[in-house]
Amino acid sequence: MEQNNIKTEELEKNISAELKSFKSDLAKADSFSSLENIRTKYLGKKSYLSVMQKSIGTLPNDLKPIVGKNTNLLRQNIEGSLEEKEKNLKASEIDREMRKESVDLSLPGRLISSGTKNILSKVVEDIEEIFIGMGFEIAEGPEIETDYYNFEALNTPEDHPARSLHDTMFVSDHVLLRTQTSPVQIRYMEENEPPIAIIVPGRVYRKDYDISHTPMFTQVEGLVVDENINFGNLKWTLETFVREMFGKDRMVRFRPHYFPFTEPSAEVDISCNICDGKGCRVCSGTGWLEILGAGIVDPKLYSFVKYDPERFTGFAFGMGVERISMLKYGINDLRLFFENDLRFVKQF
Ligand code: DAH
Repeated sequence: MEQNNIKTEELEKNISAELKSFKSDLAKADSFSSLENIRTKYLGKKSYLSVMQKSIGTLPNDLKPIVGKNTNLLRQNIEGSLEEKEKNLKASEIDREMRKESVDLSLPGRLISSGTKNILSKVVEDIEEIFIGMGFEIAEGPEIETDYYNFEALNTPEDHPARSLHDTMFVSDHVLLRTQTSPVQIRYMEENEPPIAIIVPGRVYRKDYDISHTPMFTQVEGLVVDENINFGNLKWTLETFVREMFGKDRMVRFRPHYFPFTEPSAEVDISCNICDGKGCRVCSGTGWLEILGAGIVDPKLYSFVKYDPERFTGFAFGMGVERISMLKYGINDLRLFFENDLRFVKQF
């Protein structure tokens, strides 16, 4: 009995030492893997606890229940603590994940770099807007055109000297890349009866390349046909356009000119805004900048589209969008429009 008491005391000492060591290890555990190591150390086959429990069968009968009870309590204690620790670890793991994924709404946003509209598209839209405001509609036509629409029906027959000015790019004998947007005048009149008021933006092509010419460029054509249309209507329309586009104090001047499809014809200048009309390098000392061609529709065109020339009159005009853009934004080299240099493109 005496001996058993000593044994019991020693057992309790060992168990409390084991428990103390376990608790200190557990307190340090900060991951699932360290937790597993502790589990093996204190519950594994070679652990003090397992060895003790395995040996119960060999103990004297009166010690068996004491060792059994104490080791069971130790096992419950260890298992319970491990379970609780595991729960805590899981919770802090979730917490960490949530923090990682959470969005801080007070952070400043990141700038997304976005594309910009090409300056030519923007100027075409500006031109469209101004004319739409005056009651015009927008029309379009093909870039691959026939001789007939590009020249013939525009009163520019085969042997006409004006043809050589156009440096035409031919696709085949009578098919070409349109040199101007004017053929859409004919196409539109074929399909529609007056009154008409249209503008026609589009690309045109000429075999030409130097500082002031590119093989492809952009035009906007205008056409108005109705009863009683006269030169005064043309002047008012273009003056209104110039003021909207370039500002209220721009002056406009009409200079006699020649186009095969208008009679009379004019070139239209605006006063130079660099020198205020005094004369400078940009306007070649004249004080004026040429911006478009225009005129009263030559009645010969009406015979191609079966309009009655006694009843209808009209005016037409055509402008180069690159030129308008250069004058409006002070761009000094035509080639900049087509090089796609981001430093240029992003300015607008
Ligand atoms: N098509 C002419 C050109 O490319 C521009 C033009 C002039 C168009 C007078 C017109 C106009 O409609 O009336 O040079």
